[in-house]
Amino acid sequence: MGTRRVLVTGCSSGIGLAVAVRLAKDEMKRFKVVATMRDLEKRGALERAAGDTLSRTLEIRPLDVCCEDSIRECVNSMPERRVDVLVSNAGVGMIGPLEVQSVREMQDLFNTNFFGLVRLVKELLPDMKRRQSGHIVVMSSVMGIQGLLFNDVYAASKFAVEGFCESLAVQAMKFNINLSLVEPGPVITEFERKVYEEAQNMDLSGTDEETARIFCEIYLPYSRKVFSSLGQTPEEVAEQTHQLLVAKNPPFRHQTNRLYTPMTAMKHADPTGRLPIDAFYKMVFQHDRVFNASLGIMRLLQRRTGKS
Ligand SMILES: NC(=O)c1ccc[n+]([C@@H]2O[C@H](COP(=O)([O-])OP(=O)(O)OC[C@H]3O[C@@H](n4cnc5c(N)ncnc54)[C@H](OP(=O)(O)O)[C@@H]3O)[C@@H](O)[C@H]2O)c1
Repeated sequence: MGTRRVLVTGCSSGIGLAVAVRLAKDEMKRFKVVATMRDLEKRGALERAAGDTLSRTLEIRPLDVCCEDSIRECVNSMPERRVDVLVSNAGVGMIGPLEVQSVREMQDLFNTNFFGLVRLVKELLPDMKRRQSGHIVVMSSVMGIQGLLFNDVYAASKFAVEGFCESLAVQAMKFNINLSLVEPGPVITEFERKVYEEAQNMDLSGTDEETARIFCEIYLPYSRKVFSSLGQTPEEVAEQTHQLLVAKNPPFRHQTNRLYTPMTAMKHADPTGRLPIDAFYKMVFQHDRVFNASLGIMRLLQRRTGKS
């Protein structure tokens, strides 16, 4: 296989930046990376991380996944419009009680997390079909499989992503195009900082006292503990994405954090859907000591298994 041109979205920080740099630094130079971001003024961090790959195996271009013209302009600027691999990574988060979130904010989130992917695929799929080759890699989440308290709309957007990809995968296979969903658990990036910052400044007067208490006193501290205990680095996710891209038979789904597999397995173990809901309820509201102790054990396991 020759050099593949990879388009990565959302490369100003976090996972997108790490994936772009990891692919550009491929030991066998198998990739030419077009690292994109919506605001080129934020290119500094990527330029520093890219080092001497800049202008060799990595170039930076503007692309806003919420704007069809911006996507088309970026794709048109490439020789023969050729994109062999799409890494659809750009995404935004949202946590909190439903009552304090406006429908407009929810639509904005879907516009990025779901319709951003749809716009990219609509632009690139016809060319990939014509060439009878291509690989579409989508940064989903474990929350694309299992919903989580106070992440209702974010999880819904990732479920939408998963349903879209699962449906498309069969047609794509007919045209020799691979589709892969990367499903990280918590990853320490700007994403986490942004959602917690928003949570700190959130006006909770629109919800009842009990819900506000559960969010502030139970959810937020637990969630922080989960991030600090189990959070991966963007580089770990990038390394696994690189492995997936060089694999002979890339998987359709890949969870980056093995410690999360039992959580998603519960869903498949009980077709009534009660098992994960009961387990989360007990974990959060009835057995906080057990929850804290199991986080400690998982942290230990994570260290032993080299955090994967
Ligand atoms: N961090 C986690 O715990 C975690 C876990 C599972 C999955 N994920 C997923 O991983 C992906 C990357 O997140 P991250 O953790 O790396 O967060 P991040 O550091 O906040 O990066 C998100 C990237 O998306 C970009 N973006 C947002 N809206 C965009 C738009 N309209 N057009 C183009 N780019 C846009 C951001 O650009 P700006 O700088 O311009 O805002 C930024 O470059 C997301 O899809 C997220 O859902 C994250």
